[in-house]
Amino acid sequence: MKTVRLPSGEQVPALGQGTWYMGEDRSARKAEVAALQLGLDLGLTLIDTAEMYAEGGAEQVVGEALVGRRDQAFLVSKVYPHNASRQGAIAACERSLKRLKTDHMDLYLLHWRGQHPLAETVEAFEALQRAGKIRHWGVSNLDLADMQELWRVPGGETCAANQLLYNLGRRGIEWDLLPWLRERGVPVMAYSPIEQARLLGHKGLQDFARRHGMTPAQAALAWLLAQEGVIAIPKSASPARVRENAAAREITLNPAQLAELDQLFPPPGRPVPLEML
Ligand SMILES: NC(=O)c1ccc[n+]([C@@H]2O[C@H](COP(=O)([O-])OP(=O)(O)OC[C@H]3O[C@@H](n4cnc5c(N)ncnc54)[C@H](OP(=O)(O)O)[C@@H]3O)[C@@H](O)[C@H]2O)c1
Repeated sequence: MKTVRLPSGEQVPALGQGTWYMGEDRSARKAEVAALQLGLDLGLTLIDTAEMYAEGGAEQVVGEALVGRRDQAFLVSKVYPHNASRQGAIAACERSLKRLKTDHMDLYLLHWRGQHPLAETVEAFEALQRAGKIRHWGVSNLDLADMQELWRVPGGETCAANQLLYNLGRRGIEWDLLPWLRERGVPVMAYSPIEQARLLGHKGLQDFARRHGMTPAQAALAWLLAQEGVIAIPKSASPARVRENAAAREITLNPAQLAELDQLFPPPGRPVPLEML
């Protein structure tokens, strides 16, 4: 199974599971828990959530899915920017841990940049690390200038990941941010890897997938898995689609197939402002 190396040297699965929109509807809860557990069984053990998703509801779903099997997962959650002060991030983390029914997270991310200075957020993350409540910390939706600023903050260069919008149709980060992160060994967690299913309606991708004996979702995920230092976190609450997505790990796109996808979804030819959803 393909893994990606964190700056600490630890390897994590290159394909994980997202949870946005889980926990919104009580009647869907059982199915969401079951989908995450199926994913765990299939080795999609990196699970991404956030205090924002269903205002804690998604973390509760994850907590339920992990009962009795917390050690099988690499658990990622995120703090709201407005909570990311020196004290606020600590309190938010403790609330998240309660919902997640665990005493620690593997990775805790600043969800996007807000009004609190990065130095304060990093201080809070370091205090959480010292207390054993988080193992690694990272960021999300930070562009190149933000990352450069983070690198000037004391302790900032221990950032373990940047979670970014990255998929076949959103390749802007390849211009400068992705190379900058690669040079420093910081993985990208590619969110919305199938553009919330919108990418699957792309005629060219559908045709590519049909000709090469895969589904459009598998083609999009296999393309991300072919990128060095990239972790993809598709979300699905359907067992069939969890299996379909997991099977993307069995596909290695060859150079000709990668070139075909470059034709359909050209890489950026100039700087592109960071996109987010
Ligand atoms: N840091 C950030 O700011 C940020 C922003 C967005 C997302 N994220 C994280 O990244 C994760 C993934 O992104 P996302 O949820 O926005 O979008 P996504 O994973 O690209 O797409 C999820 C959507 O696609 C459907 N789907 C999944 N697999 C499919 C398949 N094989 N065929 C057809 N439809 C499929 C899902 O429906 P079903 O559930 O019904 O299968 C769901 O509606 C999130 O869940 C979240 O954890 C982070």
